[in-house]
Amino acid sequence: MTEHTATSTPVNHYESAAAWRAVDDYFVSELVPEDQALVSARGSGVHTTMPNAEVAANQGALLGLVAQMTGARRVLEFGTLAGYSTIWLARAVGPEGRVVTFELEEQNAAVARANLERAGVSDRVDVCVGPAAHSAQDLVDAETEPFDLVFIDADKPSNPAYLDAALRLTTSGAIIIIDNVVRDGAVISPDTADPRVDGVRSVTRMISENPELDATAIQTVGTKGWDGFILARRR
Ligand code: DHB
Ligand code: MG
Repeated sequence: MTEHTATSTPVNHYESAAAWRAVDDYFVSELVPEDQALVSARGSGVHTTMPNAEVAANQGALLGLVAQMTGARRVLEFGTLAGYSTIWLARAVGPEGRVVTFELEEQNAAVARANLERAGVSDRVDVCVGPAAHSAQDLVDAETEPFDLVFIDADKPSNPAYLDAALRLTTSGAIIIIDNVVRDGAVISPDTADPRVDGVRSVTRMISENPELDATAIQTVGTKGWDGFILARRR
């Protein structure tokens, strides 16, 4: 038996969710080790209304890298939860940057504020409590300075409304990222009545029909299972 055959890939092993997690663990430990503030923020997810919905560490790092690659100074986030992704984004924009993050539940906002404080970024983050569509309208009405990057990661049925708001709060060159668009493949299931899947499909159609938006969607596997995100840019 050649060495190559002896070490050839056992395909099923590498298709398992346990293997996806192990590979995430490997790259996260090598490239994206969480500091104490991020570890605490992730752990505090159990005190929110949606435990374990934070992005994975490597996905948080991707958000930060996209913010840095595009020179984003103003970031808008739909869905704060424990503030885990908020920390990545706030660190990426730097001390002169600003993150505005929308959270429906005061309970979650309180958890997030403590995490942002611990991470040393609370001075550059506004946590706005209430329905995100209302908070967004308030910013539109106040003629807030446009945002450079928008991360949409809140209640999925509202994705179309949040994209609409994002388009009112950005201009040419802005980046829009939408989380959880694959949902274990449910996005293409013919017989789903899940309003979260409807929210994904509707927002996907909105993007496809908007000539101002260049976009792609990337599937991911890892500690969060099988999911993915849409990455869009305003022309
Ligand atoms: C769900 C939402 C999220 O933001 C996430 O990362 C995972 C799951 C959900 O609504 O099920
Ligand atoms: Mg999410």
